[in-house]
Amino acid sequence: MTADLNPVTLLWALRSPCNLGCRYCYFGTIEEHRGAVPLQSGALSHLARTDLDLAAITAFVDTLPGSRVKRIFIAGGEPLIWPPVMEVIAAIKAAGVQVVLCTNGIPLNRPELLDMIISLGVDAVSVSLDSPDADYNDTWRPARNGKHAHQDVISGIQALITARGSSPSPRVGLYSVITRLNIDVVQTGAVLASELGCDYFVPQPIALEHGHALHTQLSLTDGDADPMSEAFTQLYRSCTPVRLPDPSYPGRVVDSITHEQGFVSGCFGGTNLFFIEPDGSVYDCPSSLKIAATAPGRTIRGADARTLFAAAGPCSDCGLFSRDCVNMWPLMGFERFLTERIPT
Ligand SMILES: C[S@@+](CC[C@H](N)C(=O)[O-])C[C@H]1O[C@@H](n2cnc3c(N)ncnc32)[C@H](O)[C@@H]1O
Ligand code: SF4
Repeated sequence: MTADLNPVTLLWALRSPCNLGCRYCYFGTIEEHRGAVPLQSGALSHLARTDLDLAAITAFVDTLPGSRVKRIFIAGGEPLIWPPVMEVIAAIKAAGVQVVLCTNGIPLNRPELLDMIISLGVDAVSVSLDSPDADYNDTWRPARNGKHAHQDVISGIQALITARGSSPSPRVGLYSVITRLNIDVVQTGAVLASELGCDYFVPQPIALEHGHALHTQLSLTDGDADPMSEAFTQLYRSCTPVRLPDPSYPGRVVDSITHEQGFVSGCFGGTNLFFIEPDGSVYDCPSSLKIAATAPGRTIRGADARTLFAAAGPCSDCGLFSRDCVNMWPLMGFERFLTERIPT
């Protein structure tokens, strides 16, 4: 990485397949896509028909040295079920770029994966779990094999925290999706994260299109704004030892619930943040509104990170803020999660 004062963060949905079938997932469900694969530009699908192969991914990663890229969040799909993922992470780390793994946590029960995560110096691992209540979580985040469940995510986190011992990395965090059925996770998730020995906790609001089959049941509405504000106020007043997103985050979350679309002055999207899809396409951020408003064609396939993310102009104003981009603020403020470890 160059000593650029304006470093770039990438959120990279590396590959599409997943071992879970979360009913609200941005990638939709395999069942609904078997009959009708979404074809519009930017649409995601676990069917993985257009995912880049290892050679194309590696060719791009090889161009990271000397680029503005400072930190890459590797998500998916589930990145840890793709065998070459560690090869990709090793190359990213060798390029001097930080790696944060975003996982559903079940693969963390594999000791050989933990050894690699630790020996490669992965900077942080963010694990998704929607509730301390196993029934709630497993209703909305069921495993495709019908076997893995809540307790496997918990044991995966515990195994990772045990395996890292006293080493500073990786930091370990918990991510929970907030729906109208689990607003209490804003507080109970922090308690769970703390009991597990996690370093940070991020509750993120669910983002579903209006036509989604679960929209009425799960999406947060104006009527949820007050309970949400109250839950966040209690969370930030609590003595939780886990680190939380910066104090401006709760207000943004509530804004994203009460306004379908908002305005951000000088947004980092497209200047300091980029979103890469499994087929290699590049967007300014993962906002569905922004993706719909962007001409397709920018890609990492055959591209050089030094020119693709060459020094850009000042951040531009954006009128497409919505609940599917509010969780970019904790990503861009991730430094606060990488400070010293919470003692266990
Ligand atoms: C798409 S997943 C990919 C990484 C990994 N499979 C996981 O579940 O953490 C990244 C994050 O997006 C969250 N997510 C998925 N669909 C969502 C939605 N419709 N609204 C809000 N968050 C969502 C997941 O819970 C997870 O924390
Ligand atoms: S584990 Fe992650 S990628 Fe897989 S279905 Fe759930 S949210 Fe989507």
